[in-house]
Amino acid sequence: MAREVVSARGPLKGVVTVPGDKSISHRALMFSALAEGRSVIRGLQKGLDVKATRQCFEALGVVFEESDGVIAVNGLGVGGLKESFDVLDCLNSGTTMRLMSGILAGHGFLSVLTGDQHLRKRPMARILDPLREMGALALGREEDTRAPLVIRGGSLGALEWVTPVASAQVKSAVLLAGLHARGTTWVVEPAATRDHTERMLGGMGAEIKRDGPLRVGIVGRPKLRPFEIEVPGDPSSAAFWAAAALMVPGSELTVRGISLNEGRTGFFRILKRMGAQIEMRETGLAAGEPVGDVTIAYSKLTGVTVEPEEVPSAIDEFPVLGAVAAIAEGETVVTGAEELRFKESDRIDALAGELRKAGVPVQTFRDGLKITGGANLSPALFDSHGDHRLAMSAAILSLAIKGGGAIEGAEAAAVSYPDFFKTISGLSA
Ligand code: S3P
Repeated sequence: MAREVVSARGPLKGVVTVPGDKSISHRALMFSALAEGRSVIRGLQKGLDVKATRQCFEALGVVFEESDGVIAVNGLGVGGLKESFDVLDCLNSGTTMRLMSGILAGHGFLSVLTGDQHLRKRPMARILDPLREMGALALGREEDTRAPLVIRGGSLGALEWVTPVASAQVKSAVLLAGLHARGTTWVVEPAATRDHTERMLGGMGAEIKRDGPLRVGIVGRPKLRPFEIEVPGDPSSAAFWAAAALMVPGSELTVRGISLNEGRTGFFRILKRMGAQIEMRETGLAAGEPVGDVTIAYSKLTGVTVEPEEVPSAIDEFPVLGAVAAIAEGETVVTGAEELRFKESDRIDALAGELRKAGVPVQTFRDGLKITGGANLSPALFDSHGDHRLAMSAAILSLAIKGGGAIEGAEAAAVSYPDFFKTISGLSA
């Protein structure tokens, strides 16, 4: 396990670019494989999760030609993937496993999907249940709730699926199965989640139907047009630099060229409510998404209450919100966020445990936590719990600790941000 030591030697200043958006990168690889014709992808994220998607789709017969960081793909068409000779390893990536399962449910061959020890503990009934309803064989360990998974799809019927969890991965898995089904498949979710799947498939010529903000449908068996895209920067990676600027007095950082999709920018809105000086400027469109720059300057912060409806648009940012809440005056309370328990780690218990190591008072609930900020922070040896976002959040918190902090298991950052520790040591030097 790799240990990284982080401390700030002065204000953080400058312009940062972040890796391509992870959600869009996964989808760009998967959807280009389903198009008829040649797609071109620029700015694909280089983390291990996206690599997992690429390797799985290669095993399913797709050829990704890469030169100078640009990827060209000759799509095989909807329903055109080939049976893999081996087990499909999704590594740490829930997006790979869940979205790919939806696609494989539309194929008559057998697929076996596995992942690392963390992914094999995450809930999968939420996707296997609807896929089975649509007519696929969809099995898993522990009474069809955990990976490894077995899927033999085929001739799917459309479905209206009312999901109890607000999850873009569940919505996308069902819509992708619906892409292969006869008729129109609908998903109804309890709160609006990121809409990259709908935007991208819509842009490729699939008929997407919307009936209010929480009900979305797809008409099955279209011909999908290929696309050419430049993947925008990942707002979830930018979140670390926004938080970093708030850790050290006198700091000001700008992150360029990130997706400003409203379904992804909840964290920045929460920071604004806490009193952060933060400016978002839209500069154009990429991959059907609004993109732009974010500038954030050190500010005095106060704790806030995060409402359950806000949770999906900031779902990946709660670990780093923990670091921000630790230095804000007063209490930050999060509820309606039980989903955090089912991420790459149990992000409620793991985050609380790591914050306490630095002397931050934290109370946990089944569906959230209360963090009391403003206490003196003490140097700590943090543990990543094998979770990329916890590793990076502990590093950000370390910037605010006199004497700094160390992060054990820091290599987890490579799942979404391979250069993270290089960038933080450059900024804090
Ligand atoms: C993702 C959706 C979110 C998010 C994950 C990526 C996606 O998961 O946490 O990092 O690309 O659709 P859930 O939809 O399960 O909350």
